[in-house]
Order: sequence, then C-alpha cells, then structure tokens
Amino acid sequence: MKKIDQNNLPRHIAIIMDGNGRWAEKHTLGRISGHRQGAKSVKLTVKVCRELGIQYLTLYAFSVENWLRPREEVDALMELLKEYLHSEIKKLMKHDIRLMVIGNIGILKEPVRILLSEAMEKTAHNRGMVLNLALSYGGRDEIVEAVRSIAEDSRVGKIRPRNITKELFSKYLYTAEIPDPDLLIRTSGEYRLSNFLLWQTAYTELYFTDVLWPDFRRKHLMEAIYDFQRRERRFGLTSDQLQRGGSDLG
Ligand code: IPE
Ligand code: IPE
Ligand code: MG
Repeated sequence: MKKIDQNNLPRHIAIIMDGNGRWAEKHTLGRISGHRQGAKSVKLTVKVCRELGIQYLTLYAFSVENWLRPREEVDALMELLKEYLHSEIKKLMKHDIRLMVIGNIGILKEPVRILLSEAMEKTAHNRGMVLNLALSYGGRDEIVEAVRSIAEDSRVGKIRPRNITKELFSKYLYTAEIPDPDLLIRTSGEYRLSNFLLWQTAYTELYFTDVLWPDFRRKHLMEAIYDFQRRERRFGLTSDQLQRGGSDLG
C-alpha cells in the first residue's frame, strides 16, 4: 500500500457520503439496508481519521433537499442517526472526539435534537478531533441565513456595511469555528457538490471515487489522502512563487 506522509495531513477532511441506495440495489436489498451499511463506514472512517490525527472531519449525512425523499426513508435515516448517537457517544468520549453539527437543526424532530444537544454538550471539551455532522444542511441556505443575520446586525448598528469582509462573513456561517476543508471526498462516482459547503470549498482539493459509500474502507481513505499529498495547492499563485515560499508577495 502507498505510504502517506504524516507531516502533510489534511487538517480538515469533508466527505459527501453517497451511494447507499445504489449499494443496496446492487445487493438486491432495500435502500434502508444501504443506509444501515453506510453507518458502518461512518464508524470506521471516524476511527481511522482519529488514529491518523486528522483534526476536523465533516460528514454530509443529510441535505435540506433530502427532506423530499419518501417519508419512510427520511424516518429511517433519522432512526439511524439516533442509533448512531446512542451507540457511539461512549466511543467519542473515549477517543476524545468532539461532536459538532452544521445545518438547519431547528427542523429536526425533538428526540433527535435532544440527543444531538446532549452529545454536543457532553463532548464539548474533547480535543482529539472534531466530528462535524452536516444534517439538514444546505450551502445556499447557510449563506442566505448569514446574509440575513448580517443585515439585521447592520440594521441595529452592531456592524457597519464597510466592515463586512470575507473574514466577518465566515463568522456568520454554521462553520464559524471550523477551518475550511483541505480535502473533499465524494464517493459513488458523482461529480458535483450537491449544495455542500459552497463558500468553504473555494480552495479545497476535490477527490472523487467510484466506490459506493457502504464499501468505503481504510484503504480508500488512504488513497484519497495520498492523492491529496501529491497535489500542489497554488491558491492562484505560480508554482515558482510557491517554491520560493511566497517571500516576494506583498
Ligand atoms: C447517500 O446515499 C446518503 C444520503 C443522501 C442520505 P444515497 O441514498 O444518496 O444513495 P444513492 O445516491 O441513491 O445511491
Ligand atoms: C448528497 O447526496 C447529500 C448527502 C450525501 C447527504 P445526494 O444523493 O442527496 O445528492 P444528489 O441528489 O445526487 O445530488
Ligand atoms: Mg445519492
């Protein structure tokens, strides 16, 4: 297996966990079995990221658009989330992992919301890694909500329009406390963002794999990190400038 460089790990990995339905179809099972199997990949990925020393792992678990799926599927996904929180909280504590959530949490049903807040509260002081779940998440909604809050703060005189910068704007997003992802992985051979972290991925390295999420294993994650480590992140500069350490930049 290819060896990854421990000194050049992505600080923040974000994953669009896609392909549960197709995995189920391939195995002539119902879609919900696919999600159940996908939950196993979640557990494994959290474990491997923690072992590697990744600081932030964001998992796209449920989009705002996903609310429009058949009722039984939505209910099953919420049940799985509850099961996950129940069964994993001990492990999160043991491995010093802090749980955070981004998305429109207010529209989740109360039992899920309660479990989430309990888990967030309980793990709030853990420092080993942040596991950030994107739930009922939509990138455009996030941006619109930020704009609304900024407009309101501006109306009441808390901020002035001329002080609205990229940095200030970022503070109004769900991800205020989280750095932008360095690496974004999408499984299942789809090449789109599907409304995920639209602002935050401006300079993220994108990695696509045909592997379906329930089949995603340690080796696939290693492959993605290995690929990431072979890229040159230029942020608009020339290769030459980067090699000179950006010392001539004003
Ligand atoms: C991803 O798998 C999980 C969620 C979106 C909740 P899908 O359910 O989208 O699987 P496919 O894309 O239908 O295969
Ligand atoms: C994106 O997957 C959302 C999650 C993985 C939670 P979808 O399966 O919902 O995205 P589309 O519909 O293929 O764009
Ligand atoms: Mg899908």
